[in-house]
Amino acid sequence: MLLLRGEQIASEEQAELIKQSGFRHERTTRLASVFEGISHQSASLAAIEKDFVEHRDRATLIPRIKVLARDLVDVADNDPDAAFANIHLEFVRSYTVVHSFMAALVSSRLALARGLDRAQRITLVSAALTHDIGFLARRKGFDASGDLSAEQRANIKCHTGDGVQVLQDLGVDDRLWLDAVRDHHEYLDGSGYAGKKEGELSLAARILALADSYSAMLRPRPYRERVVARTALETLYVDELARYDGSLLEILIWDFGFYPPGSLLRLANREIAVAIRNSPGILDSPRVASLTDPHGRPLVRPFARDTRNPAFAIVDTLDPAMAARSAKQIGECWSLDFTAPSARK
Ligand SMILES: [Fe+2]
Ligand SMILES: [Fe+2]
Repeated sequence: MLLLRGEQIASEEQAELIKQSGFRHERTTRLASVFEGISHQSASLAAIEKDFVEHRDRATLIPRIKVLARDLVDVADNDPDAAFANIHLEFVRSYTVVHSFMAALVSSRLALARGLDRAQRITLVSAALTHDIGFLARRKGFDASGDLSAEQRANIKCHTGDGVQVLQDLGVDDRLWLDAVRDHHEYLDGSGYAGKKEGELSLAARILALADSYSAMLRPRPYRERVVARTALETLYVDELARYDGSLLEILIWDFGFYPPGSLLRLANREIAVAIRNSPGILDSPRVASLTDPHGRPLVRPFARDTRNPAFAIVDTLDPAMAARSAKQIGECWSLDFTAPSARK
């Protein structure tokens, strides 16, 4: 049943047990691209979220989150650009699934750069995947729009403490996980929910706070518009610098750039392109693949454009939701030769 709901097999032992029980299925996960793999993983998180909201299979929820977090760290290390692009272009799943997943990917990258070991990163990613579980606990029905009722808005500051309580009730006792969830709305200048300051906040909490803010800005809500990545970074750096760990903000800016993977862009020659990879050391000229000709007609296959060439310079950022009709071509972009992973770590 879990496999049919999109769960992934956690280990060789588990695969053997499933085979012995008579289940037969092609092993496609190793063959699938990272881009496709992320779709399976976000489906797993959606299934976990649904089971939590509907009070099903409670004993399995945390083990499933841990398996998902481990797989997500592996995938994000293998091809972080493909992973981020997939979730940047995801418009089917609920806000909490997309937001939590994006926060988890960003947290994993920041934690890698700050030297957290693999086990710590898996725990931090588990925290990111569940950081707003306090909202879900108070939600009476499954609200795909992600909007909040008046009562939920009034109780918004309770969701961090509620989240910790829910996680403890589900069996989580890891301090890194619980502290990060409790403090993900605390900021270095003391402007957070509980007014904690720099010396009181763990590195994991500081990473999750930044990843949460950045991820929230990139996704529209019923009560506010989406902002493009460049504006989000400028807001964080210019207006909110005192709130965040400056070294983490630097990593975020240089790792994802002004046009992170999955950004939909208009080029100077009128073609529509998708950002594939950040160019190391350059914030505003990612490697891109054109999806349409200058008249907006979809291309059979995407092809590379060098945005440092003025003829193909980026002139506008478009709503990623416009990419839905080019979904097939976009999926191919991360398996083309010119998208070979860069050497950046
Ligand atoms: Fe939150
Ligand atoms: Fe959040």
